Amino acid sequence: TLCLALPTLARNDDSLARVKARGVLKLATDATYPPFEYMENGKVVGFDAELAAELGRELGVQVELVSMEWSGVFAAVETQKCDLVISGVTITAERKKGNGFTRPYFLSGQVIARKKGTSFAKPSDILPEGRTAAVQQETTGQFAMEKAGVPKERLHRFDTLQDGLMDVKNGKSDVAVGDEPALAEIIRKGYPELELAPGGPFVEENLGIVAKKDALTLLAALNLALERIVVDGRYARIYEKWMHK
Ligand code: ARG
Repeated sequence: TLCLALPTLARNDDSLARVKARGVLKLATDATYPPFEYMENGKVVGFDAELAAELGRELGVQVELVSMEWSGVFAAVETQKCDLVISGVTITAERKKGNGFTRPYFLSGQVIARKKGTSFAKPSDILPEGRTAAVQQETTGQFAMEKAGVPKERLHRFDTLQDGLMDVKNGKSDVAVGDEPALAEIIRKGYPELELAPGGPFVEENLGIVAKKDALTLLAALNLALERIVVDGRYARIYEKWMHK
């Protein structure tokens, strides 16, 4: 019966046992997305990196952050090169078809970045002929612009959000689209000529940690760990450290 299906599946799933036996939790991440994850002195640092460290502590295992291109993070879990993706990943219905997700660990949202002195504020502002947008490819920023109806040839897709912002700076794209904390931080660090459109995100999104779809025991352990990390104040400390408001 239905109520027996989940425990039975979980009994046949050794995803948590394998991580514990190995003693290492391997997490794929595209470390080009401050303040979530970025490289500093050859190490992955940021909000996700510290959260991962706490998850490792809860599971009683070491944590290894494996930095790779965004285009490879989901495949890394699929091929079991890594156990998880922690990379500011938005939980979407489409991605849930092929991946397992933890409960949401962060409320984010998509925003528009533009040159100071311009007035682009929402996806539909890019619909008129000649308007262009830059996105990190295969991110929800891209999906949002596609949904708004921005045609392919005017949607400039880059490997990183930084490259997208460079395109805006150079006047080749009118806007860049991405997660609010990431766009705010990248602009703050290196793009004084750019700004976020006022009014906050045009759409809110929950971020989650990705596992293989059938990794029920690992996901359950992570959800419990996340709960502990929130309840005892560690989450708030990490948030305050990395999120500039
Ligand atoms: N939240 C967006 C998405 O899931 C973008 C995430 C990009 N993350 C990164 N580390 N580059 O599509």
